[in-house]
Amino acid sequence: WKTLDDVALAGKSVLVRVDINVPMEAGRVTDATRIEKIVPTVEDIIARGGKVVLLAHFDRPKGKVVPEMSLSHVVAALAEATGRKVVFGADCVGEPARAAIAAAGAADVVLLENTRFHAGEEKNDPALAQEMASLGDVFVNDAFSAAHRAHASTAALAGLLPNAAGRLMEAELKALEAALGTPVRPVVAVVGGAKVSTKLDLLGNLVTKVDHLVIGGGMANTFLVAQGVEVGKSLAERDMADTAREIMGKAKAAGCTIHLPVDIVVAREFKAGAESETLPVGKCPADAMILDAGPKTVANLEAVFAGAKTLIWNGPLGAFEIKPFDAATNAAAKAAARLTRAGKLVSVAGGGDTVSALNAAGAAADFTFISTAGGAFLEWMEGKELPGVAALMG
Ligand code: 3PG
Repeated sequence: WKTLDDVALAGKSVLVRVDINVPMEAGRVTDATRIEKIVPTVEDIIARGGKVVLLAHFDRPKGKVVPEMSLSHVVAALAEATGRKVVFGADCVGEPARAAIAAAGAADVVLLENTRFHAGEEKNDPALAQEMASLGDVFVNDAFSAAHRAHASTAALAGLLPNAAGRLMEAELKALEAALGTPVRPVVAVVGGAKVSTKLDLLGNLVTKVDHLVIGGGMANTFLVAQGVEVGKSLAERDMADTAREIMGKAKAAGCTIHLPVDIVVAREFKAGAESETLPVGKCPADAMILDAGPKTVANLEAVFAGAKTLIWNGPLGAFEIKPFDAATNAAAKAAARLTRAGKLVSVAGGGDTVSALNAAGAAADFTFISTAGGAFLEWMEGKELPGVAALMG
């Protein structure tokens, strides 16, 4: 793939696919990391005389116009991060897009409306890609975190214009290759979070690649159920128990040790400050739910981290967004940060939730590399080809 250094930008309209699919509450951006990370690409293009036209998706509107999923809600955060005027186009193609591009000055940033408002986006529709291509002269993909999607703005569009990777895409690919292409062993992977069924397949592949697999969050409950452990009212996919057992068998055969919680923090309500208690695993009351791992589990993880050379982390260990259920994630993140600072561990983390959790723990700055990607990060870890990256090489 080419970088921004390899393409002529002066006087060009540069279509930049970014991933600003940021967490939002009540119409306000709660973590602007992904927006901040695209600033070097924006600045580089403007400095070299190109006009920046951002293409992005937001959430999953499934081909319909859903006002709450309008990218207009991130305009203020984008203006703040770039320090530039943002001109918003009410559609990503056609007259509204053209009008926004024409209205923007050379130092402004154009942001076009959610590409997923068009059904053709997720179908990688060549006609939609052609409409997008007609708006610009050069295509830059800076959305590593959306590169696992073969969509019109991430895949088909790249084939229609001279293309290059943006600075963030370039940094992600270089760092992941350096850290994971040929990792120093032992390698420990931490996989947590609530997207249970979507990650079980990924776990199946991961156990063949890493030496230790730590499973946390809602996903761990499914594995506990698979071992016949009672989890009360906890989030768990009981119909995935067979799959979880298969994964455990595959891990054993591959020499990968799976680590599950040995103690749990349970509560009857899922809210901040809810009354909670720490119990041995298996003692979850029928009317309670597991919301975090306990201190013994954290101590075990610290020992696993201390014996490893490379750490790959995706997903929090508990319901980290609600205190006090962030305790295990915070403590484990701090342990990884300490070992990294001491030069004993190469630590790589990815995933929107993961980044927020590591930031909240004050651990992110010490990690060797923090990816902005969630699903793309995991698919890359599996060794899958990412369509968005492959399209830049075509
Ligand atoms: C992400 O948030 O991981 C990317 O923006 C991709 O979003 P998606 O999972 O809705 O395709």
